[in-house]
Amino acid sequence: MKKLSVIIIGAGGRGRTYCRNMHAMPDKYEVVGVAEPVEVKRNEIRDMCGLPEENCFADWREILARPKMADIAVIATMDSMHYEPAMKAISLGYHLLLEKPVAPTAKECLEIAKAAEEKGVSVIVCHVLRYTPFYKTLKSIVDSGMIGKVMSVEQIEGVGDIHFSHSFVRGLWHSEKETSPMVIAKTCHDLDIIQWLIGKSCKKVSSFGELTYFREENAPEGSPRRCVDGTCPEKDTCPYNAYALYIENKDGLWWKKGFSHIVATHENFTDEELLEKLKETDWGLCVFHANNDMPDHQIVNMEFEGGVNATLNLNAFNEGGRYTRIFGTKGEVYAFMSDENIHIHTFADKKDHIVSVKETEETIAGGHGGGDVGIVYDLYEYLCGIYQGVSVADIGVSVSNHLIGFAAEEARHGDTVVSLDTFREKLSCQND
Ligand SMILES: NC(=O)c1ccc[n+]([C@@H]2O[C@H](COP(=O)([O-])OP(=O)(O)OC[C@H]3O[C@@H](n4cnc5c(N)ncnc54)[C@H](O)[C@@H]3O)[C@@H](O)[C@H]2O)c1
Repeated sequence: MKKLSVIIIGAGGRGRTYCRNMHAMPDKYEVVGVAEPVEVKRNEIRDMCGLPEENCFADWREILARPKMADIAVIATMDSMHYEPAMKAISLGYHLLLEKPVAPTAKECLEIAKAAEEKGVSVIVCHVLRYTPFYKTLKSIVDSGMIGKVMSVEQIEGVGDIHFSHSFVRGLWHSEKETSPMVIAKTCHDLDIIQWLIGKSCKKVSSFGELTYFREENAPEGSPRRCVDGTCPEKDTCPYNAYALYIENKDGLWWKKGFSHIVATHENFTDEELLEKLKETDWGLCVFHANNDMPDHQIVNMEFEGGVNATLNLNAFNEGGRYTRIFGTKGEVYAFMSDENIHIHTFADKKDHIVSVKETEETIAGGHGGGDVGIVYDLYEYLCGIYQGVSVADIGVSVSNHLIGFAAEEARHGDTVVSLDTFREKLSCQND
């Protein structure tokens, strides 16, 4: 069996996940190099994969200054650090497993797609939902014709109150200026899924939403700038109390682990050291005093070819979870990603059907409902030319679906409806 060699660029949460999944498939992949400035993370990859020190680098520029040393480069740096390493790796002839978003601007997304096409390399964007048993089952239901022609789709991305506070108020994505607009950073996956299910091009978008709740004026009277000051009058009832979430949290939910992974400088980081980090990083800030600008609720309305329409509702005010409703000419589907069952109602026989979504052998339970492992399986088959599935999409498809989000931002800020054709034309004039 052919083995594909891989380098990891950015060994944070995502880079380490893909590395672990690839390392667990030794007949398919061999990780041969890493670039990561944080020593403890770099060493984790080195030790896991048995890398020689000379293949471990502190910066993507160093590893990509070398002649091409592998088949695939995994690019899992932060959003604003995708474009440069992606363009350089493409120019060297690497295939890419590129984290989403492709890039924070529409122009950079289009440039990456163009460069990949010209060089003849594959760039697979980590739209991990496409690779989950849940969405693969949903897609097969739609493609079977059971619900007739799709007329409308409703997608809800319930980010979750704590997840929102952790990532989009205090966390790495608290500012769209530093990363990407919320609709791209969080829901380029959902836009991609909507278009994939409908199977047509998006023609028009409008969008509404803003940052309304996690703002200074909603801070409890007398609340200090940092929860860890311990003087907040609402510290015992506030769900966002940083001390409770990041130090006292013993319930196994991922915020504490996620935070310690980001700030840890060595192995076995202690609670005392975490507390010190809460005193100096944004994760210790009160959620109402956090200098954040990501909208906490936003909707996107879309019209596709043939009059098919869709809505995306993304918001912070829920426990978390993705819901998809699909309305067809012969039936409707209701699906909640955390549920094991997809519910279908068909009109002709007035019957309810339940399709069970079980983890398959191939998609051993894991991050993103099995998607983090699924994408690594499918990438292998795709690059070996033996792929039979429907999940892998070309970078061109991913970029088109990102453009729906960028156009939605133009519509939201301009309080208008944006035509995707006009939006693309404007971009291509800017590129000329
Ligand atoms: N597909 C998904 O569902 C999904 C989920 C979460 C995050 N993401 C995306 O994955 C990307 C990474 O997110 P993350 O949560 O792993 O972030 P992270 O901050 O944990 O990881 C980024 C890593 O890049 C490293 N880095 C910084 N400068 C570098 C350099 N010059 N050279 C090499 N590495 C460098 C950082 O030290 C860090 O370890 C982001 O773009 C994010 O939006 C995707």
